Amino acid sequence: SLYQATASAPVNIACIKYWGKRDTKLILPTNSSLSVTLDQDHLRSTTTSRADPSFSEDKLWLNGKLDEIKPGGRLWTCISEMKRMRKEVEDQKPNEPKLSAMHVHICSHNNFPTAAGLASSASGFAALVSSLAALYKLPASPSTLSLIARQGSGSACRSLFGGFVAWEMGSSPDGSDSLAVEVAPRDHWPEIHALICVVSDDKKGTSSTSGMQRTVETSALLQHRIKHVVPERMRAISAAIKEKNFDAFARITMQDSNQFHAVALDTDPPIFYMNDVSRAIIALVTEYNRVSVEAGGKLKAAYTYDAGPNAVIYTPQENVKEIVDMVVKYFPQAQPFKDPFGLFKGAGVQGGVVEGFNTAVAKQFEVGAVKTLIHTRVGDGPRVLGEE
Ligand code: DP6
Repeated sequence: SLYQATASAPVNIACIKYWGKRDTKLILPTNSSLSVTLDQDHLRSTTTSRADPSFSEDKLWLNGKLDEIKPGGRLWTCISEMKRMRKEVEDQKPNEPKLSAMHVHICSHNNFPTAAGLASSASGFAALVSSLAALYKLPASPSTLSLIARQGSGSACRSLFGGFVAWEMGSSPDGSDSLAVEVAPRDHWPEIHALICVVSDDKKGTSSTSGMQRTVETSALLQHRIKHVVPERMRAISAAIKEKNFDAFARITMQDSNQFHAVALDTDPPIFYMNDVSRAIIALVTEYNRVSVEAGGKLKAAYTYDAGPNAVIYTPQENVKEIVDMVVKYFPQAQPFKDPFGLFKGAGVQGGVVEGFNTAVAKQFEVGAVKTLIHTRVGDGPRVLGEE
């Protein structure tokens, strides 16, 4: 007998950052967060799950390498929760094969290398949960599946939807209301593109999991952030998305990235995720926006940084060419990794400086290189690719 299903899931990058847990076992956050799902045509995790009565244990391969499923660990929890939901289906429909009693073999891979500098845990856990949901034919909504993905990695719960996604922190101690909801689908605002500037693919440094725990234990600024800043920002950015107000969306996104890194600095001992190149890109985007605003226009780009030095720049499609030209002019070493719209060819050779750009700003760019550029855009949610 062969029971098998394959699903793929996207990466997401937060505009309002998740940073802090109120329950480390269930992965319940200290604040709500909101992200943009990136296009899985370009960046994705793909996972195949198989159940068979002959399997003697659960096994998982990640990019071809056997991974350990530690009892009580995050992978184990996700697989156990999915089997529990399958058991409920079997109890309702006695003719269904008893897949919940079989072991599973799970094979997962990312179509982006670590050199892409992107965390793969969000797309990875979302693909795992989606493939098991397809294998088990669960009638579960994306929000229900997000409750399980959340227990693999907090940010993974947001990869169960496409478009613009909120993770509502919830208040129940059992975590039943800490889930992802769609703010707007991709097709509401498909013009939102993302340019990822990979500064370093180094996985060293403080992990999100341990870093945020230390912040919860030591930062007074985090308490201010979760009580007095994030709730209002969640409302404001959701409204900006619904109105397709890029100026407001960009302002809030940059403010929240900056506050997240301030909270990391406020941790004891302090945590530094951005480096000089990250700060140079902030200066570049700031100058680019200043020129637009002083000419009576609006913000044209927003930077955001996760727990590392790599920049993600959100911008409406019409500005991407101009921004690529600018980044490549000042960081000519940057190599394309994904260029689905063919904008990198000849970039920065001429032009690269918008009218009115203060080139003195460029002094601070002489600090290092951008290694890789990835151009992508807002995308859809997990896809089931095959069931048999
Ligand atoms: C800075 O989801 O990786 O990217 O829940 O411990 O697995 P765990 O942490 P993780 O943290 C992500 C932190 C962030 C912000 C965000 O994605 O919202």
